[in-house]
Amino acid sequence: MIVKQICCIGAGYVGGPTMSVFADKCPDIKVKVVDVNTNRIEQWNDEDVSKLPIYEPGLSSIVSRTRNKNLFFSTDVKKAIQESDIIFISVNTPTKQYGVGKDMAADLKYVEICAREIGKYANSDKIIVEKSTLPVRTAEAIKDILENSQSEFSFEILSNPEFLAEGTAIDDLISPDRVLIGGDYHTESGKKAIQALKNLYLNWVDEDKIMVSNIWSSELSKLVANAFLAQRVSSINTISELCEVTEADVKEVSKAIGMDSRIGSKFLNASIGFGGSCFQKDILNLVYIANSYNLPEVAEYWNQVIHINNHQRRRFANKIISRLYNTVSDKKITLLGWAFKKDTNDSRESSSIYVADHLLNEQALISTFDPKVSEEQIYADIDAVNSRTEIENRTLLTVYKDPYEACKDAHAIAIMTEWEEFKLYDWQRIYDAMSKPAFIFDGRAILNNEDLIRIGFKIYTIGK
Ligand code: UDX
Ligand code: ADP
Repeated sequence: MIVKQICCIGAGYVGGPTMSVFADKCPDIKVKVVDVNTNRIEQWNDEDVSKLPIYEPGLSSIVSRTRNKNLFFSTDVKKAIQESDIIFISVNTPTKQYGVGKDMAADLKYVEICAREIGKYANSDKIIVEKSTLPVRTAEAIKDILENSQSEFSFEILSNPEFLAEGTAIDDLISPDRVLIGGDYHTESGKKAIQALKNLYLNWVDEDKIMVSNIWSSELSKLVANAFLAQRVSSINTISELCEVTEADVKEVSKAIGMDSRIGSKFLNASIGFGGSCFQKDILNLVYIANSYNLPEVAEYWNQVIHINNHQRRRFANKIISRLYNTVSDKKITLLGWAFKKDTNDSRESSSIYVADHLLNEQALISTFDPKVSEEQIYADIDAVNSRTEIENRTLLTVYKDPYEACKDAHAIAIMTEWEEFKLYDWQRIYDAMSKPAFIFDGRAILNNEDLIRIGFKIYTIGK
């Protein structure tokens, strides 16, 4: 099968960067990214690439060299479906906010809409590739919808989970640890579809890194990979609490255990808890699936990873309150960092939101600064928690564009995101402008304690 054009439905954190790399690595293939969100597509098409809707190191230069050559962004979903041989589905699958499975199951509403649109508009046989994180057996749902769509054409469904991490998306896409393709490898048409997708990747990925599995294994692997990674973070976060009440330092413990090649050194940084669009959602899904197959012990095991994460967020906020003499009412507290990790403008499920919410409930005056997250997004995040009115949130929470202004007159500063620039600030200047005693709560353990203590700060570091 010769593939001339591919498209991706959903121009978000997964669809945008993934398709940009496809376009860059497969110059002979036309790549279209479509989205119902007109504003988002306009941003992707903005001549000024610093205005792309997603901040990701290396992304803007790839978009500059491929856009309107073989990479196109559009709102015309129908046309993209009709022109493409392979259609990637990369729409959002948030945790359900209503009905059966509320707060646990993934909401497949948007995926279902895509499947129906493909069934309605397709004018030739198509290969459909699931790219969003989806609970197991979604491909079956997509297949069902397409088989009942009264389309005269045939559809082959593949699962090709995305393993990129935000902040390193471009490197992860260019040099993946593995590419996983789930498909029906027992049938001729399944084999052909798998090969067609594999051929795209072979433009830049070694064959031995491309793994083929059955579709259910592929879907489940994505959930399990994220659950294992999140589990490491929760595990080290429990040890951070233990270290704080003993003589141990979690950084030293992490280093010591990480040197064991069976454990490995990655994902052992204690923090204020993991955030991001995937970890919590995927574990909740795993728990929901386990429960629905009547496996309560399995469900409870994974649920603990989330339980510890919520505990770590709450513990950090409580630490700020207790160190500030058990009251933060009317005190200015500055949160440095709103993104869920460095090098991204994404704040979905960021621990900053929950720590801010807890402190706002204690009547603190919160100031915040993030190098990439917009003021509009920060207010949308805190409004979505639904603890206060929008007017109250705008009175109690102030978003600054300058970190030094954000810290001025503050009683305490909390490091929420591990942005490199925080390490380089003039901490003497910040100290001089703060209320005294001046506290720092380093939720990412990135600052140099000795230097700060010498300046006069009182410092709490996670896990120390
Ligand atoms: C994750 C997976 O890594 C990726 O493979 C998958 O495709 C999507 O989900 P992402 O959520 O973008 O990627 O970021 P990741 O680097 O995994 O970090 C998730 C959260 O864990 C962040 O809040 C991060 O700060 C936190 N974390 C990570 C820690 O607290 N400590 C660590 O040691 C590592
Ligand atoms: P992710 O992190 O998984 O990429 P995002 O929320 O960043 O998630 O992106 C998903 C995108 O999918 C959004 O821009 C949303 O507008 C788009 N989308 C959702 N449903 C549809 C649909 N039926 N057709 C086209 N685009 C859609």
